[in-house]
Parts: sequence; C-alpha cells; structure tokens
Amino acid sequence: MSSNNSKTKIFVTRKIPQPGLDMLKEHYEVIVNPHNRVLSKDELLDGVRTADGLLCLLTDDITAEVMDINPNLKVISNYAVGYNNIDVEAATKRGIQVTNTPGVLTDTTADLAWALIMAVGRRVVEGDVFTREGRFEGWDPMLLLGTDITGKTLGIIGMGRIGQAVARRAMGFDMRILYHDMAPVPVAEEEYQAEFVALDELLRQSDFVTIHAPLTDETRHMIGRRELSVMKKMAYLVNTARGPLVDEEALVEALRDGIIAGAGLDVYENEPRLASGLAELPNTVILPHLGSATLETRTKMATMAAANLVAALEGKRPPHIVNPEVL
Ligand code: DGY
Repeated sequence: MSSNNSKTKIFVTRKIPQPGLDMLKEHYEVIVNPHNRVLSKDELLDGVRTADGLLCLLTDDITAEVMDINPNLKVISNYAVGYNNIDVEAATKRGIQVTNTPGVLTDTTADLAWALIMAVGRRVVEGDVFTREGRFEGWDPMLLLGTDITGKTLGIIGMGRIGQAVARRAMGFDMRILYHDMAPVPVAEEEYQAEFVALDELLRQSDFVTIHAPLTDETRHMIGRRELSVMKKMAYLVNTARGPLVDEEALVEALRDGIIAGAGLDVYENEPRLASGLAELPNTVILPHLGSATLETRTKMATMAAANLVAALEGKRPPHIVNPEVL
C-alpha cells in the first residue's frame, strides 16, 4: 500500500466492529458517524461530500443524489451481502465501484432461519413468555402443542448460498426439500436431493416456506395475498432475506384469519416499522433483523468491507465487486 494516502478520506455511516475500522485507520483519515443511529439524509450528504470512499449499511439509501454530492467518490462498500439500498446502475454510470460482503454471513443467516423455523413450529417464544408469567402449573397433555419439523416438507425460495446452507441443515431433520429459483441449481439437487418446482407448487406442498431471494423489482411482493392463500393452512412462513419480498399487510391478514399457521420474521417491509397488527399476533416470532448478528460474523463483515474499500482505493480489483463493469 502506498504511503501517500494521508489525505484519502473514508466516511463510515455507523460504527462497525473495530478490526474493520482499524484496517482503514492504518492508512486513511476515517470519519465515523458519532451517533448510534441511522443518519438523516442531510447528515449522509454531509459525510459523503468530502469522502473518497464510503462504507455504508443496508439502512442507508445510497441514491444518485448522494453520489452526485461528491465527484471524487470512488467506491461504495456495503456492509451487507444484499445491496438493494444502493442505486448500482447510477454508481456504474458514474464509474463508482460498489462492493458487498458475500459468503461470511451464509451460515450465520441460515442458523437464524432455522432458529425461526424451530421457534414458530415449536412455540418456543410463547412457551418462554408463558413460563416467565408464572402460568406454568405443571405438565399438561394439551399445553402449547406445536408441529413436528422432522420428516416435513421444507420449501426454499432462492437456492443461492444461504438457501443451500438452510437445505444442508434440513437434511439432519430428514426433510423433503423443494426449492424455487430462476433456474435449477444442480448442486442442490445432487447434495440435498432438493426438487426444483414452480413457486405455486412449493407453496402448495410445503409445511415450512423459507425465503432466501434477493430483493429486486421482480421479486418485490413475490409473496402476496394470492400466494399466501395457496399455502397449507398448517404451514409457516419464514423470512430472513428482505422484508419487501412479502406483502406484509397481506401477511398480517393471513395470520389473523388462519390462512397460514404462523410466521417467523427477521425482516420487514418498512424497517423498523411493523405492519399494523403484526406485533399483536401470537402465532409469529419477530426479530429485529439479526440474520448476521454474531460477533464473529459482524467482525468478518467489517474486515471484508474494509478490504474491499482499500483494494478499490489502491487501484486493485476489490475481492467482492458488485459492478465489475466499472473496472
Ligand atoms: C445482509 O448482509 O444483507 C444482511 O441482511 C445483514 O444482516
């Protein structure tokens, strides 16, 4: 790395684990959002105004307007694998590199999808609340009956890295695995005996449906009122991908009217806001976007996001570039 980088500036939109910041501070002037909250649009524009590199989060809306505040901006490093928060097309037009953090959070997110499958299927959170409230009066043959997971059918929407990691775990539960994606994924069929089916077929047959698709214009609201009505009455929906993949109002209705049995959610259509009525439903487990939230994984994401930034600023190909056409 060259040593004449003393003036190169990095703006980090929120504090991330220290090892990533240390990597950047070694060579650049690093400014980190001092508040423990998402920046307002004006604060974001202010930060980007003089930065050569931006390290941002999935909660930051990186629009063309943000990019245009600073013609010297060279790289936008997203601290996430999903990058629907960035207008990549606008970045490409302006010659700005966009990078992300794939791979490191695959297992961590798959673990959390499984935590939700088990929590909704076996009523873990309801049972915890019940016990804490002092309502446990002894073993009861009819108390909080859930549903078996072993031997059931799991429907995976999006058989990418995370979908495959979820499938791998399902083998330990002797599950039949159905999946839907834009095209068949041969490795999933060979390794997990997963069957490629149309979306409606997956919804019709699955006892648990788990979503692992990216959010794009095509996938927004891919699960809406009609799709929910195709699901089994006793089925559960789990979403650890992106909230807008599901029409959340339609989901609340389906959960309230018994169209499906329950849902495990880590992501929401208008984060951090929840659709009206969602938090009151007993047949849901709702988490505050914890998919990648382990110390190990968030630390790896931080060093990976920093490495992407450093490579771009040093004129090298970033290890995880989203728009390689700018190089
Ligand atoms: C991602 O990387 O896209 C995750 O949602 C972060 O938890």
